[in-house]
Amino acid sequence: MISKEQLDKDRLPRHVAIIMDGNGRWAKQKGNPRIFGHKNGVDAVRDTVEGAAELGIGFLTLYAFSTENWKRPRTEIDALMSLLVASIHKETKTLLDNNVRLRAIGDIDSLPKSVAQNLKGAIKKTEKNTGLNLILALSYSSRWEIVNAVKLLVEDLQKEKINSEDINASLFELYLNTAGIPDPELLIRTSGEYRISNYLLWQIAYSELYFTPTLWPDFRREHLYKAILDYQCRERRFGKISEQIAENINVNS
Ligand code: IPE
Ligand code: IPE
Ligand code: MG
Repeated sequence: MISKEQLDKDRLPRHVAIIMDGNGRWAKQKGNPRIFGHKNGVDAVRDTVEGAAELGIGFLTLYAFSTENWKRPRTEIDALMSLLVASIHKETKTLLDNNVRLRAIGDIDSLPKSVAQNLKGAIKKTEKNTGLNLILALSYSSRWEIVNAVKLLVEDLQKEKINSEDINASLFELYLNTAGIPDPELLIRTSGEYRISNYLLWQIAYSELYFTPTLWPDFRREHLYKAILDYQCRERRFGKISEQIAENINVNS
């Protein structure tokens, strides 16, 4: 297992995004119903959040429920929503103890009232925290977010708050749910699936992707360290060539 001392503290990603996948399969392997996997997934969230906060990561965005997840059986959706309420309630203290600020992206008003209220309450309680920003993606999908951004932008155009000549990538980003949040340098997906499932499509344009077969309920901070170590061994070129990147490092050092 990797320890946090093996990581280069000066080259930590500012923002890590995770697609927490594999809860159902984890439960099935143990002969249990899918919700057992979701319940155990909360332990993985707690440990990962504590690990990220301790490392000094700025932003951690967790994909907890997608727009498409509304198509799951009603019983699973209801169980997930109850688990969300219970977890937000129970874990607010952990967030406060770790100086974590809770935030959310997604269509929060489409969530059941109890979930939306609890979430907004925890967001308020932790708003003064200055450590890790924990962003929950709930009822979130990237296409929803982008279409929503276009609607808001068109409203501002019609109200003449902006001109069409002003539209560029930086302006457009202000209309996304993630306005003001840096793009993730690292995206992790658990459970051995190699897809993005409508997550942060705009924001991951240049993210490093890391896939692990570990099922989400088994994921712990050491797995996060391993992903970060892998990230730190990569060369990010942003369209340039290796020599230019090396030159830049020399100029800046
Ligand atoms: C991820 O685990 C949690 C959610 C999508 C809510 P899954 O529930 O997708 O588990 P698998 O992928 O079926 O194993
Ligand atoms: C992606 O997982 C969504 C979340 C982790 C919340 P899914 O399990 O829903 O993704 P697909 O359906 O396998 O692509
Ligand atoms: Mg899944």
